[in-house]
This record gives sequence, C-alpha cells and structure tokens, in this order.
Amino acid sequence: MMRWLIDTATLMLGRLRRGRRVRTTCDPVDGRVKVNLGCGLAVAPGWINVDASLNAVLANLPRALLPIAYRLSGSNRYYTREQYIGLLSGNRFVHHDLAHSLPFDDDSVDVVYSSHFVEHLFRDEAVVLMRESLRILKPGGLVRVCVPDLAYAVECYRRGQAREMLEQYFFVEDRSSFLARHKYMYDFDLLRDALEAAGFTAVERRAWREGRAPDLSLLDNRPDETLFVEAQKPAGR
Ligand SMILES: C[S@@+](CC[C@H](N)C(=O)[O-])C[C@H]1O[C@@H](n2cnc3c(N)ncnc32)[C@H](O)[C@@H]1O
Repeated sequence: MMRWLIDTATLMLGRLRRGRRVRTTCDPVDGRVKVNLGCGLAVAPGWINVDASLNAVLANLPRALLPIAYRLSGSNRYYTREQYIGLLSGNRFVHHDLAHSLPFDDDSVDVVYSSHFVEHLFRDEAVVLMRESLRILKPGGLVRVCVPDLAYAVECYRRGQAREMLEQYFFVEDRSSFLARHKYMYDFDLLRDALEAAGFTAVERRAWREGRAPDLSLLDNRPDETLFVEAQKPAGR
C-alpha cells in the first residue's frame, strides 16, 4: 500500500511537470549528450538519467538530506547507505513520467539508452516514446533499447519453467510497485516494427555489451534474458 501511494504521488508529480524542458549539457569526457530512460539506479557518469521513481526526486535534494532519503526510499534492500548516496549525488537525475513525452528539445541528444524499461509501457505508449526519442535525437543519432526477450521467455516455458518464467517477467509474488509492472513484451521482430513505426532505420540486434552506444560495460545488464537492439535516426530528418 505504501509503495502504491509513493508511486502514485511521484507519477502525479511527473505529470504536473509535463511540458517543461531539461537543459542538456555535453558529457565533458566524450562531448556527447546521452540520456538514459527508465534508468532506476543503473546509471553511468556523464549521462542524464530519467525516471519516474522516488529516487529520481530524492536525487535532487541537498546531499545532507540523502541519508534520510535512503531510509525513505527502501533502497536498503539493494544498496548500502554509502553506495546509495554516491549514486544519487554523483549522477544527474531528472524526474519525469516517460509514458507521454520526453523533456528535451528537438535534435539535442546524441544517444538515447534504455534498459528494462520499455516493457513497462503499453505498446502504443512505447511507440510514442520511440517517436519522442527520434524527435530529441540529432540527425544520425543512436538509440539502444534493451528489453526482456519474449523468445527467451517462451524458451523457458518450453523447458518446463512456466512458474519461474511468470515470476521473472510478471512478479506474481510482488504487487508492491506499479512502476515495476510489465505491460508488453518484445522479440526482435516486434521491437524492430515498433522502432520502424516511430521512424528509426538501420535497426540491428546487438549482443550484451556490444554495439555503438557508449558505457555498455556499466549499463547493460541481465545478459541471458535480454534482447539488445540499436537503431539510428536517419541523417536527413
Ligand atoms: C526494471 S527497472 C530498470 C532499471 C534499469 N534501467 C535497469 O536496467 O536495471 C524499470 C524502471 O522504469 C521506471 N519506470 C516505470 N514506469 C515509468 C514511467 N512511466 N516513467 C518513467 N519511469 C518509469 C521504474 O521506476 C524503474 O526504475
């Protein structure tokens, strides 16, 4: 119940802020503007990390308040206090509900990365997100989308692991957070169709931690169950 209230409050806050635009700044290391959508706390230095979770709100508090934020957030299940404070204070977070829009100007971003987030949207919302990604990317810019692989889930089922598969993808035992709910699944063809429907070209399957997007050794996770795909905004758009 508590988790539900927190998710609802933070999503409402995200919706209230709809329409505002975030100032983009280049990563001083490679001179590119890179955004990580539905980041959770899986972040890398130099990226602009966007999420609708409480952590993305708390990250913008003064550092002195972060020990209190640690207790509020429930992150002690996964992180020590020092790790949590380091992640929140050492990275840039933007709080935003990604189901409707992206808070960046047209043609302002070099790389859009997203891992284990797009399946948290209904398919029509995901296509809107991909269209928005196309809008904010500079011509020739890159998107990398990583999602749970429907083909892998079916393989688990065929191996007789129906219960494990359902638990892994639909969190049957944990109803605490609706931001954690999955609403759709993709195999390569379905994800390519969604990216092409949004206007992307050169849609290609990639391997774990391989591809043109930067920082994959820090960002890519869950190698076995994940479908990794990259695509490009056509140069002339
Ligand atoms: C499974 S986590 C993925 C975290 C990380 N990217 C990773 O690879 O581990 C899904 C994330 O999507 C976020 N999320 C779910 N719905 C969202 C929405 N409508 N807008 C923004 N973020 C959302 C959740 O808060 C959560 O952090």
